[in-house]
Amino acid sequence: MRKPILAGNWKMNKTRDEAIHFALSVEPKLPKEGVEAVICAPAIILRDLVKRCEVIHVGAQNMNENVSGAYTGEISPVMLKDTKVEYVILGHSERRAYYNETDEKINQKIVRAFEYDLKPIVCVGEVLAEREANKTNDVLKTQVTNAFKGVEIANPDNIVIAYEPVWAIGTGKSATSAQAEEACKYIRDLLAGIYGEDVAQKIRILYGGSVNTKNIAELMSMPNIDGGLVGGASLKEDDYITLCNACAK
Ligand code: PGA
Repeated sequence: MRKPILAGNWKMNKTRDEAIHFALSVEPKLPKEGVEAVICAPAIILRDLVKRCEVIHVGAQNMNENVSGAYTGEISPVMLKDTKVEYVILGHSERRAYYNETDEKINQKIVRAFEYDLKPIVCVGEVLAEREANKTNDVLKTQVTNAFKGVEIANPDNIVIAYEPVWAIGTGKSATSAQAEEACKYIRDLLAGIYGEDVAQKIRILYGGSVNTKNIAELMSMPNIDGGLVGGASLKEDDYITLCNACAK
């Protein structure tokens, strides 16, 4: 059985003190089993969070594909490994839209993440115009195929995919559970085509985009949705606890 994941994507929010306060107050209230509670925090507070978290699995929000060098402002996989984070979000739509991240870059990042024992959470998803033009599957196929070109998956537990329709992110307009399930199932079928059914059945696929405490249960009732990647609602302690509880199986 795939263990559900509730991953908070804090984006560019929370200072160190706010993050530590959050972690210390939610940890005693999180389910002890049945879900992996993850927080992807700003890079500058990762080391402190890793030190303080016992239940929460800590992740970064991005990573450069190079190991070191003249890349001002960037964070390398070596640094993330040194910080002892477990996960790293790759290819979030905000990175694709504002920082020109291409499928090719994301592909290089996935390879690098595996080299340094980091678990990628790879984001894919269509924009509104693509959905309206019935191109969702085409977009997902291109993104998934390109992101995983030549990538070997030694352990399917170490890779996570997040289906995040761009029109649903931060808009309060979540995909319906049927839309989310259809896309997650399609992604699983694509993975089966690349890696075989057995591996595809073991990979966790999350839904993200305006997940909240009200819609999480229905999303989680879908057979191919293994958790959520949650922005806004993951910033509030009570909501984060409720979301983790709703995901626990
Ligand atoms: P949201 O963000 O939950 O605020 O829509 C999700 C994400 O960007 O991962």
